[in-house]
Amino acid sequence: MTDSDIPPEFDLGFRDGFETLLRWRRDVRRFRTDPVGPNVLDGLLDLADLAPSVGNSQPWRFVSVETSEARRRVRANFEQANADALADQAQERRHLYASLKLAGLEQAPVHLAVFTDSETDQGYGLGRRTMPQTLEHSTVMAIHTLWLAARALGVGVGWVSILDPHRLCADLSVPSDWRFTAYLCLGWPEEEHADPELERAGWQARTGRGRDLLRR
Ligand SMILES: Cc1cc2nc3c(=O)[nH]c(=O)nc-3n(C[C@H](O)[C@H](O)[C@H](O)COP(=O)(O)O)c2cc1C
Repeated sequence: MTDSDIPPEFDLGFRDGFETLLRWRRDVRRFRTDPVGPNVLDGLLDLADLAPSVGNSQPWRFVSVETSEARRRVRANFEQANADALADQAQERRHLYASLKLAGLEQAPVHLAVFTDSETDQGYGLGRRTMPQTLEHSTVMAIHTLWLAARALGVGVGWVSILDPHRLCADLSVPSDWRFTAYLCLGWPEEEHADPELERAGWQARTGRGRDLLRR
């Protein structure tokens, strides 16, 4: 048995630290503009790649959006989708919605568009015959892994979903089999909080409703 075969023990200190990480993981929209080094990003992508996936298919595909033209298109996409979302809000919530900051696209030094390769042959289809959506579930696992790993390094992640996915795929010219899953802004946070921004803004507090057990 080599050292790397010996299962680790996650002691109380580790478990406490892990809980703190979960409690302090935030969706970040306010970034400093100083860069996140390429080694940091590479390390995060390596850790994201350890996520579970249906049939071990690893269908996540990351695109680093770097050029000013590509970023301009993403911002325009967001602005249009956000204006449409604002118009859809009930009258009594419209003012509050308009006051929310829902993306950090201007300042974030790193932009990652995340896709799911819907036709990957990796995994030979195992596990997804009746539930093809498990490919996208797998990509979300990788995103959450990256999110936690980033927070452990002090790097903030903000998930932007207020986007037209078809326009985004066209603007980034990705292969036609890739489905858009998420747009992530990464960078050093301007501020740290123990509670979600949407809770502080009075939009929606955590309720714990999802943790209630239904027994059958
Ligand atoms: C699938 C998904 C999509 C999201 N899209 C957005 C978004 O477009 N804009 C935004 O400000 N936050 C977005 N968020 C972040 C949520 O608003 C945030 O997770 C939630 O308010 C709880 O805050 P916390 O992540 O800081 O705990 C998204 C989160 C998820 C999981």
